[in-house]
Amino acid sequence: MIRQVLVLNGPNLGRLGIREPEIYGSVSFDELAELCRATGRSLGLHVDVRQTDDEREMIGWVHEAADARMPVVINPAAFTHYSYALRDALAMRTAPLVEVHISNPAAREEFRHTSVVAAVADGTVAGFGLVSYQLALQAIAELIARAPSPEPRDREAPTRP
Ligand code: DQA
Repeated sequence: MIRQVLVLNGPNLGRLGIREPEIYGSVSFDELAELCRATGRSLGLHVDVRQTDDEREMIGWVHEAADARMPVVINPAAFTHYSYALRDALAMRTAPLVEVHISNPAAREEFRHTSVVAAVADGTVAGFGLVSYQLALQAIAELIARAPSPEPRDREAPTRP
């Protein structure tokens, strides 16, 4: 069975290739998205890659994933360091969750050393450039293989006795 996986990207990641290339590299967001889809195909996963600069939209996608029991790879970008709203949304997850970063935030400015989402993820992959995403997708495939997902959450109203 092909599993659907969401790869969610937060603010400014749509500017990959132009944005601080010495830190984030020269590959564009579209190229990253294609790399994720191709990696997913090789792992038997259907990967849907999204990016937003908007916290509300990101949280909506996280709710969508929870309702559909969909695994998520997320690069929350700057939301990583301060968004308790995103953390609370991710805490409702119903499937594997991997946090990913292109750079190694632990080796950068002090404010990047805190991740408010790390504790609700299965794990974090950081510091390997775009390979971080490939490793995160491999981790998702491994987690799915260990614990195959049940059917999507039953949204029927409970019947009265
Ligand atoms: C990032 C690291 C964050 O600190 C930063 O705000 C980003 C990108 C990364 O992928 O290395 O936008 O998440």
